[in-house]
Amino acid sequence: LFVNASKQSARTIPDTLFGIFFEEINHAGAGGLWAELVDNRGFEAGGQATPSDIAPWFIIGDESLVVLSTDRSSCFDRNKIALRMDVLCDSKGPLICPAGGVGVYNPGFWGMNIEQGKSYKLILYLRSYNPINVSVSLTDSTGSQPLATSNIIASSVSNWTRMEFLFVAKATNPNSRLQFTTTQAGVIWFDQVSLMPVDTYKGLGFREDLFQLLADLKPAFLRFPGGCFVEGGRLPNAVRWKDTIGPWEERPGHYGDVWDYWTDDGLGHFEFFQLAEDLGALPIWVFNNGISLHGEVNMSVILPFIHEVLDGLEFAKGDASTTWGSVRAALGHPEPFDLRYVAIGNEECPIQGYRGNYLKFYQAIKHYYPEIKIISNCDGSSQKLDHPADLYDYHIYTSANNMFSKYNAFDYVARDGPKAFVSEYAVTPKEDAGTGSLLAALAEAGFLLGLERNSDIVEMASYAPLFVNTNDRHWNPDAIVLNSAKAYGTPSYWMQQFFIESNGATLLNSTLQASSTNSLHASAIIWKNTDDATYYLRLKFVNIGSVPVSMKISIDGVKINTKSALSTVLTSDNVMDENSFDKPAKVTPVRAPLTANVELDGTEMTFTLAQHSLTSIDVLTT
Ligand code: AHR
Repeated sequence: LFVNASKQSARTIPDTLFGIFFEEINHAGAGGLWAELVDNRGFEAGGQATPSDIAPWFIIGDESLVVLSTDRSSCFDRNKIALRMDVLCDSKGPLICPAGGVGVYNPGFWGMNIEQGKSYKLILYLRSYNPINVSVSLTDSTGSQPLATSNIIASSVSNWTRMEFLFVAKATNPNSRLQFTTTQAGVIWFDQVSLMPVDTYKGLGFREDLFQLLADLKPAFLRFPGGCFVEGGRLPNAVRWKDTIGPWEERPGHYGDVWDYWTDDGLGHFEFFQLAEDLGALPIWVFNNGISLHGEVNMSVILPFIHEVLDGLEFAKGDASTTWGSVRAALGHPEPFDLRYVAIGNEECPIQGYRGNYLKFYQAIKHYYPEIKIISNCDGSSQKLDHPADLYDYHIYTSANNMFSKYNAFDYVARDGPKAFVSEYAVTPKEDAGTGSLLAALAEAGFLLGLERNSDIVEMASYAPLFVNTNDRHWNPDAIVLNSAKAYGTPSYWMQQFFIESNGATLLNSTLQASSTNSLHASAIIWKNTDDATYYLRLKFVNIGSVPVSMKISIDGVKINTKSALSTVLTSDNVMDENSFDKPAKVTPVRAPLTANVELDGTEMTFTLAQHSLTSIDVLTT
């Protein structure tokens, strides 16, 4: 590899190049990043009609003793469904309740993770015509081992009454449930039952371990909230930002019909902006443009959709004197969010009607917010766009071979058009990717090296999808795998860490000379270590082949400190190796001083690249 570090051939990589894309898919948010433990907390998952589907709330006891149903008696106007529990038994008879009582429980999202010594806040609303005596507890999955208990004893709850409890768990169980039981006949209504761990990231509601995995990627941007999730299979099921803000009890929630699950929208529009800010990432809002996944186009009545988006922009960017800016301020964020990019829809370009709708949104947004960069989802890499845009979306899901060869995907794209946002990329076929293989990560790394090289016309890139709850693997593979208690990164997650320092770095001109470059890609950057303001040369290599490769590096234009070289290698015995809950670190980067097989003299070095490996070498420049 010849590396030319002269100023003339160097170029600055955009600060924004590598970021993340969050979609509410695979229970990424509900049952994932959002720490709420109760699934279907408002009993709304079955829709607004009664009887409603209350799953996963289940009966405790026999239906001859207790009956669960729903009605529309909630005190919350936007989500009227409440749970009605008719208890027919009593401690005295004629129908005698079992000793443990009868009632209702919620197992959360495939089990609640309750940890010994940790605190959990329960908030609920209830009413009853009679005095009540209800036991509330966190228990194991069968209800037999209590982890924390409390009692609701109230003589007058004929109107809806808000109650709050703090539980401190006396044991750990990742498969716990929340239950309400009683041995007293009567009728009790429940609504908006929320159980949150007290320990969430900064108390903001994000699961701490998952937040940290995101923060460790140092993402330059956060694209949200989808994907197809934004489109909706049918328009009424598309996400509407105004329904996802404000007090959680008043959010109606919605059924994401594309990925087939209900979300209470605890992780809403405000929380996404907050998440981006806390990650130090630029928010990129993808909004519904009046088109659903199945091609319904709303053109004649598009104006309300445009107003909704303009209101959303004011919510993010307006100062506290504006209508929607004041709503944001009242939610605790008086300063505007740093919103610079929006995407008009997702993957609807082939649908007739996209351009018509797009232009209307485009003109309205540019009129009020000329500084906002607008992303079209028509691919501008294959042909010139026939409409104005600042960026265009580029999605690629393909085989390992093809992904690796896409190193050159942007080499011949015109330099004068809008920039590319590679907002979704991944190796997907099961035979290459398994449920997250080393092979997939290596192929993706090859692709990203090509993006670095073409970062004069590629402004941003993000892997997709980000999260999968292992109990709802709707889309495979994913970067982070989680269950109620644990999480691990797939090799594709760890691969992204090799590119963290590329944002804003200087790309050097490097030329790979090899007998066969079919299995090898490389790049060279200079990046600044902000801890001590020193500059490092970082060389990255992907060797997707099955034989080790001897490398000789010749560096022109910069001197390196030969004693400082550190190598980081992502590899494994078998190219199809994966991480798992049992072995989360099987395929993770290993960092060590570069000593073996290395000769250093300040301008040249030689070493061997392992087979099936992604390697980065950091050397201090002098
Ligand atoms: O990332 C999964 C899905 O793939 C996204 O929702 C969509 O944009 C693409 O088709």
